[in-house]
Amino acid sequence: MTEKRSEVLVVFTPSGKRGRFPLGTPLISAARQLGVDIDSVCGGRGICGRCKVQVGEGEFAKYGIRSNAGHLSPLSEPEQRFAEKHELPADCRLSCHTELAGDVVIDVPAASQVHHQVVRKDYQARDVEVNPVVHLHYVEVEKPKLHEPDGDLQRLREALAEEWQLADLECDFQLMPGLQASLREGKWRVTAAVRDRREIVAVWPGFKGAVYGVATDVGSTTIASHLCDLGSGEVLASAGVMNPQIRFGEDLMSRVSYVMLNPGGDKELTRVVREAIGQLIQSLLDESGVAARDVLELTFVGNPIMHHLLLGMSPEQLGISPFALATDAATTVRASDLGIQVNPGARAYVLPCIAGHVGADTAGVLLAEEPDTYDAVSLVVDVGTNAEILLANRERILAASSPTGPAFEGAQISCGQRAAPGAIERVRIDPDSLEPRFKVIGCDLWSDDPGFRDALGPLEVSGICGSGIIEAVAEMYLAGVIDTDGGIDGALVERSARVVPEGRTYAYVLHDGDPPVHIVQNDVRAVQLAKAALYAGVRLLTDRMGVQTVDRIRLAGAFGSHIDVKYAMVLGLIPDCDLSRVSAAGNAAGTGAVMALVDRHARAAIEAKVREVEKVETAVQAEFQDYFVLAIAIPHKTDPFAELSKSVKLPRSAACERSEEPRGRGRRRRKPGAE
Ligand code: FES
Repeated sequence: MTEKRSEVLVVFTPSGKRGRFPLGTPLISAARQLGVDIDSVCGGRGICGRCKVQVGEGEFAKYGIRSNAGHLSPLSEPEQRFAEKHELPADCRLSCHTELAGDVVIDVPAASQVHHQVVRKDYQARDVEVNPVVHLHYVEVEKPKLHEPDGDLQRLREALAEEWQLADLECDFQLMPGLQASLREGKWRVTAAVRDRREIVAVWPGFKGAVYGVATDVGSTTIASHLCDLGSGEVLASAGVMNPQIRFGEDLMSRVSYVMLNPGGDKELTRVVREAIGQLIQSLLDESGVAARDVLELTFVGNPIMHHLLLGMSPEQLGISPFALATDAATTVRASDLGIQVNPGARAYVLPCIAGHVGADTAGVLLAEEPDTYDAVSLVVDVGTNAEILLANRERILAASSPTGPAFEGAQISCGQRAAPGAIERVRIDPDSLEPRFKVIGCDLWSDDPGFRDALGPLEVSGICGSGIIEAVAEMYLAGVIDTDGGIDGALVERSARVVPEGRTYAYVLHDGDPPVHIVQNDVRAVQLAKAALYAGVRLLTDRMGVQTVDRIRLAGAFGSHIDVKYAMVLGLIPDCDLSRVSAAGNAAGTGAVMALVDRHARAAIEAKVREVEKVETAVQAEFQDYFVLAIAIPHKTDPFAELSKSVKLPRSAACERSEEPRGRGRRRRKPGAE
């Protein structure tokens, strides 16, 4: 009987790991012996609180245990001290200062696990593993002795090796000038930040509990950054700014032209984008009260041209065939090399590029969306001035980019504008009366709702944004204002005041205000050309994979999040698919950057994955032009949209008439993988 009480049973949840240990065993040792990963920064000194666990109370029939707080040693002095300064709820204990006194069930909360998952609540981010490349380690360093001439750094390294099994660490030279002062200020107790278990990159006097990182998606239109706690993986603040490079050219190719035509233009573009990123990061730090010196890691994604300009490399070669990247590998540089003022030891990791037109942003999308983990054939499209396209299943990953131009961002549209308050973003057209109703950004009411004018307040209807133009053209098609070839039906002038002559063609009056918002024939054409480019790119990929259809579609990026997938499909912007399997992926590229920031394994994963990607260069594929021409029709000249027809009544059109015909007018399918 006595023998039985000398050992007690402990069960750790959620892992379910269990074992018998002698009475008086420290909880943290029991956990470690069972392989339960409990976090620690202070090395068991009762300072960091990372080893917090919760005691189960009551009868646990599943484990045959009656567990309660009395089955643990009384609250220790370090715990009492910790509880005075921080929060330590009554049912929580510090496992480094708690001993087993009876059978217990111990819950290890996610925040106390070394590798834990952060469950995101917002729609655009998926759950993320937390296992950052930088870890904090608190140590007590031996004081120097007159007759033992070891340097302070050598004694710090010894302490890290002894306490944390971090042998043969290198030291970032930039921290040397302040090292002696930090050791003395901390009375020989310091916290070292160790990167990749290889290098000491920062040292703080005393205990330091948290360091931070910033993940940035450098888009050609906007730059978006997320400030994250590297220990918890939580995103503390997010913000975006317009990319100031826009003044050198709206779309990517005009920026490359600027570089080609202006000696030193690349340096100027690099300077402005780095400055904007620096200011954006500073605004995140100001908002969250985090010091710049506490930021130790940055990650970046961006299309190949943004990638090159960020790293100070000229994008000139990306503007001419064969579109050679200076490097396609993941790149790590000092944050200071990019002119970003955070901790001097901070590093910036830039995700790998995939091809000359498929960049680190697509690598971020691939990381976040993991289309290669489904049996189903997944199409992931990130729509911007260039559409970047991934087609994948468990067996293959294919990628391409299509030059959609800026029409989807409201540019090259007569009344187009960026998505901003006052822009029309939703459109409906009554097929009988041809009267429109619309919604504008910044107002919750539809234009025909009572009180719409008052609800607008000082806001004016100022134009139409990308999602608005998609809906407008799709609704014009569904209402019969335009036909499958995109021509505005001039005969409707007789029937509706909404259709008016405009030069030698016609226009549809969406808003008869000041300024008026008209959809002119050239606007419809611009949308048709943009969507045809995207569709043709998708067709090249489905051909290469040897499939006729896709099983699921994810629309990434800001545009993908705002468009109504039904209208995107009515236009034939994306291929036919069960509408319930088409969804927005949010800012997947940014999510990929966050994943690479907080999880070192995500970096290894994407670096390996990009090597598997089969690149399809749309510009040199002979079929691209044929596919493009067929895709100009709405929704398509020959491809049936049978799935779409189940939920949307499409006007009688060429596509519908041919819906019984085999796709591609009887053209034989080429073998998978054939050029
Ligand atoms: Fe730091 Fe327990 S390990 S408080």
